[in-house]
Amino acid sequence: MKNTRSIYSLATIIAASLLLWSCGRADGEFTGSEYMPDMGHSIAYEANVNTYYYNNTWGTEEAYYDMAHPRKPVKGTVARGYLPSKYQYLEDFRATGEETQVILQEKVRKMIIVDASIVNPIQPRDADELAAVLEKGAHLYKINCEVCHGEAGDGNGVLYNGGDGKYSAKPANFINDDFYKDGNTDGRFLNAILHGKGMMQSHADKLSPAERWEVIHYIRSLQANEKGVDYNPVAAVNVAPSMEETMEAVTEEHTEEQHEEAHDGDGHGK
Ligand code: HEC
Repeated sequence: MKNTRSIYSLATIIAASLLLWSCGRADGEFTGSEYMPDMGHSIAYEANVNTYYYNNTWGTEEAYYDMAHPRKPVKGTVARGYLPSKYQYLEDFRATGEETQVILQEKVRKMIIVDASIVNPIQPRDADELAAVLEKGAHLYKINCEVCHGEAGDGNGVLYNGGDGKYSAKPANFINDDFYKDGNTDGRFLNAILHGKGMMQSHADKLSPAERWEVIHYIRSLQANEKGVDYNPVAAVNVAPSMEETMEAVTEEHTEEQHEEAHDGDGHGK
């Protein structure tokens, strides 16, 4: 009886040790073994994350990496909600291999600022469409720009407050004639929104492509207001295409320009 009990105890101890041993402890290069690994490691590909696990995958490590790593957009496509832009791919403007990313960025920014061919792709067809765009723009301006650039666009928002505010850098005054001297292109506005300037941070992650242009329309209306004229961006074009048609045209134009190979994006088209 006594013997039987000790045999049982011994067997239990051995079984328990075996069980623990089989689970295996991580040590050095050895990652340890797991009981039912498929419960701990997803067998689905995780987008943009290389979670290859040797004990539980459908393919080789290379195949897994191929499926999971970020891929380039399909050539000639524009993701929904994005606007094509000729400045979409920084690499298009690289002159020599010597150029660092920072120099390249700076160069492209300077090009954007003076590029008069950058025009607001949101072209309201009639007064109602314009009013709707300006209403959205005003709302976005209030949220994102007004604290610094002021309600009137005079660069005197509450944060700056004539120099007495918390924010020491003087924001640009959109309605001051000085602002026009350095050029008043849409590209200059777009560049400020995309990349910021001086003490102004980028707002690329705050405003969608369409929203950026709605804000620019609104700032233009503030400027027109200051000059005492009606803001009428498409008055000259009596047969202006609808917004949808404009977007399609811009997309087609860009598609034709598409380069042979896809390049890394730098966020301009976002
Ligand atoms: C936190 C404060 C702040 C906010 C918010 C801000 N700006 Fe600015 N902005 C500045 C300052 C400061 C400057 C002047 C930078 C310089 O000249 O060094 C400036 C400059 C600019 C310029 C002139 C760029 C140039 O090339 O001279 C534009 C255009 C502009 N901002 C647009 C905007 C728009 C549009 C928004 C909202 C989406 C916005 N800013 C939000 C602080 C701000």
